[in-house]
Amino acid sequence: MKKILCIGAGYVGGPTMAVIADKCPQYTVTVVDINEKRIAAWNSDDLPIYEPGLDEVVKRCRGKNLFYSTDVAKGIKEADIIFVSVNTPTKTFGAGAGRAADLQYLEKTARSIIEHADSDKIVVEKSTLPVRTAQAMSRILHSNTRGLKFQIISNPEFLAEGTAINDLMDPDRVLIGGLETEEGKKAINEIVEIYANWVPRERIITTNLWSSELTKLVSNALLAQRVSSVNSISALCEKTEANINEVTAAAGRDTRIGAKFLKASIGFGGSCFKKDILNLVYLCGYYGLPEVAEYWEQVIKMNEFQSRRFVGNMLAAMFNTVADKKIAILGFAFKADTGDTRESPAISVCRQLLEERARLRIHDPKALENAQLDLEDAAGDITYCEDPYEAVKGAHAIAVMTDWKCFKELDFKRIYESMEKPAFLFDGRNLLDVDEMYGIGFNVYPIGKKAKTHF
Ligand code: UDX
Ligand code: ADP
Repeated sequence: MKKILCIGAGYVGGPTMAVIADKCPQYTVTVVDINEKRIAAWNSDDLPIYEPGLDEVVKRCRGKNLFYSTDVAKGIKEADIIFVSVNTPTKTFGAGAGRAADLQYLEKTARSIIEHADSDKIVVEKSTLPVRTAQAMSRILHSNTRGLKFQIISNPEFLAEGTAINDLMDPDRVLIGGLETEEGKKAINEIVEIYANWVPRERIITTNLWSSELTKLVSNALLAQRVSSVNSISALCEKTEANINEVTAAAGRDTRIGAKFLKASIGFGGSCFKKDILNLVYLCGYYGLPEVAEYWEQVIKMNEFQSRRFVGNMLAAMFNTVADKKIAILGFAFKADTGDTRESPAISVCRQLLEERARLRIHDPKALENAQLDLEDAAGDITYCEDPYEAVKGAHAIAVMTDWKCFKELDFKRIYESMEKPAFLFDGRNLLDVDEMYGIGFNVYPIGKKAKTHF
C-alpha cells in the first residue's frame, strides 16, 4: 500500500486529502499538523472547518485509510509521497512586507522533511507559492547529507471554499507540474496515477514546474480581476440608471466572456485572491516589470474602493451620520457556505462603521467565532448574535455582507416591524428582491442598481 502524507490540515489539505482517501482505497493517507487542537477536531465529530459534504467523506474514510495525527516525524518517515499544504500568508515584516509570500512555514516543513526522512520521496507543493519556490524547496531538501533524492512536483489546488468537495470530486482540471527530466516525468506520473482514480485523463494537465506554479497565481488573478471589473462598472451603473445585473447578464451571454464570476458585490475576500495578486505584483516588481505590477495592483485597489464606496453610500443615505445608530450586519464570512472570514470585506466594512461610531449587531450562521477574532482589537459597541431576529431588533439599518441563501428565507415583514424607522437595507450582495423589500417598507440600496426609497 502506497503511503501519502499531507503536512498542514487546513482548508486545502483537509478536504483534498479526504477526497483522495475516499477515491483511492489503495493508498493510506495521513494528514499531520503541528496544531494539536486542529488535529483533535479532525478526529472528532466537530470538524475544524465547515464545508458542505465534508463530514460524510471524512466519516467514510477516517480510521480506514485516512488518519489525522500530530506525529509529523513518523508521518515523514513512512511516506512515499508528501503533499505540503502549510500556510503561506503575505509577509507582514521585512523586505517585501505586504506583498511577498511569507515562506517561513514552508521552509520549516522542508527542514523537518530532511530531518526525519530516511528514503527518497516525492514532495508535492499544494500551498500557493511564488513562481520558482520549487527551486528553493529543492535546494533545501537536497542540502541533506545522506544522499537522499527528492522530486518536487507542483500540484496547485483550485478548490473554492463552500464547494470544495464538489470541486475536488469533479474538477475542471487537475494541474501537475514537474521537472522535464526522466525522474521528473516519473514523479509526475505517480501523481497523475492518484488523480486518474476518479478524474478523466483529459482533465489532468501536465506542465513544467514553473508554468504550474504560475498558473495558480494567474487563475486567481484573472478571477479576481473579473470581480473587480464588474464592481467598477457597478459604481458607474449607480450613477447612470443602468442595472448591473442586466449589463452582466447580457455581456455574459457572449460565450467569449461567459456568465460566471460576474456578480457585483461589496468586494472579493478569501485567503487566496488578495494574497495571490500581491504575490504576482511582488514578482513583477522583482523581475523589473513595474508596469505589469501596477496593472495587477489595480485589481486590489478597486476591491478596496468598493467597500469604501459601500460605506460611503450608507452614510450618505442615513443623513451623513451613523453615530450611535444600531446597524445589523447580516453575514460575516467572505462568501456563503463557509465559516471562513479571511480577508472578508465584512471586516473592512465593520471597521469603517465602528470608526463612524455605529453600534454593530453581527449575525452569521457559521462565522461568528471567526468574526469575534477578526474584530477582537476593534473598539466600539459590537454584539454577536446567533439569532438574526435579535440582530435586527431596534436597528436603523441592515447591511447584507454575505450571500447566505438562508437570509432570503427570513421573515422581512417581521424584521421591518422590529426596526427603527425609516428602515434602511443595504444589500452588498444583491441577494434580496429590491421591489419586494421596498414593498415591505424598506429603503433599499442594492449594488449597481438604482436605490428604491420612500423619500
Ligand atoms: C478562490 C478560487 O476560486 C479557487 O479556485 C482557488 O483555489 C482559491 O481561491 P475561494 O477564495 O474559496 O476560491 O472563493 P471564490 O468562490 O473564488 O470567491 C472569492 C471571492 O469573490 C468571494 O468573496 C466571493 O464572494 C467573491 N465573488 C465571487 C464575487 O464578489 N462575485 C463573483 O461573481 C464571484
Ligand atoms: P490553507 O487555507 O492554505 O489550507 P490553513 O492556514 O488553513 O491554510 O492551513 C495550514 C495549516 O498548516 C495550519 O493548520 C498550520 O498549523 C499547518 N502548519 C504550518 N506549518 C506547519 C509545519 N511546519 N508542520 C505541520 N503543519 C504546519
